[in-house]
Amino acid sequence: MNSYEGIDNLLNLIIENSAAALEAQRGTLMLVDGEKQELYVKTAWSNNGQTADANLRLKIGEGIPGLVVKERRAMRSTGKSSSLGFSNTHQDEATVLSVPLQLRDHPLGVLTVLREDAERPFTEDDEMLLGSIGSQMAVAIENYRLNLDVERTYLETIMALALAVEAKDPYSAGHSKRVGYYAMKIGEQIGLDEEMLRTLNDAGVLHDIGKIGIKDEILLKPAPLDPDEQKIMQQHSAIGEAIVRPIRSLSKVVALVRHHHERFDGAGYPNGLKGEAIPLGARILAVADTYDAIITDRPYRKRMSIERAKDELRRNAGHQHDPAVVEAFLRFVEGKEERPASAKSQPPAA
Ligand SMILES: [Fe+2]
Repeated sequence: MNSYEGIDNLLNLIIENSAAALEAQRGTLMLVDGEKQELYVKTAWSNNGQTADANLRLKIGEGIPGLVVKERRAMRSTGKSSSLGFSNTHQDEATVLSVPLQLRDHPLGVLTVLREDAERPFTEDDEMLLGSIGSQMAVAIENYRLNLDVERTYLETIMALALAVEAKDPYSAGHSKRVGYYAMKIGEQIGLDEEMLRTLNDAGVLHDIGKIGIKDEILLKPAPLDPDEQKIMQQHSAIGEAIVRPIRSLSKVVALVRHHHERFDGAGYPNGLKGEAIPLGARILAVADTYDAIITDRPYRKRMSIERAKDELRRNAGHQHDPAVVEAFLRFVEGKEERPASAKSQPPAA
């Protein structure tokens, strides 16, 4: 068996965040032990700190996880947790969602979350969400097993983590991908080169990864934050920088993640940089981030129309945002509006 120490902590965080996103009390990543034709627990998480399933071993075909690997398809099921293939805790009846981890038809393992409330079964949307986190994890795990580029493995893993973090907040589903997309479109308008466009896309996907380090009470608070809470929330850009920094191939993304909340007038954070002292990519991310936040529902306010979002950006040009970047973004949005529907370039779906 290979050692996974390098990515163990990250895998654990992914399980924990996926379970939280799906309102599950337990989450388990099991991998296939090819020699024994068994599944063993790679990492397990539970909301009460007891990882009752840590020593669990299942035959291929046994319990829900075993069946998922055998039949290579996701499953949702309700019943006694023991009959689902898990050890019993205080609750008997549970509902479970299990997705296969596989690469090119080769089964690697299974990702499972369990709710200790059989009245609330998992939905198809839950299945899709866990499925996309699972496929991203499969890539990372396979790279690790094959001893491929360590950096790339770390990158694949934090991409899965970014998905899991974002999934915890249903209001932000798809936000990071869209920020990457808009940032790239602004870059195109400004005439930036291919490499910079890729950097903008990666930075968009990863810009809020530091939210992994923010407590859920603050992250998910369904109301505006008080000043102390705001201070804590603001740490996410520096935490994100620290997560991205070890990846050499993302060296250009590091500063953009750190500075995506700077303001053109110098009143932003974490450094209060002003004007062109803020990296161009970070000024671009700020516009993309603001626009997507305005046109998306939040727990305490409804989304605004595209027209109002454009007005808001215009109003903030020179204050919060770089006027040249705002102008480039408006050119992109307006160009899109003028073209017939079929030619529209769509942002990625949530
Ligand atoms: Fe942010």
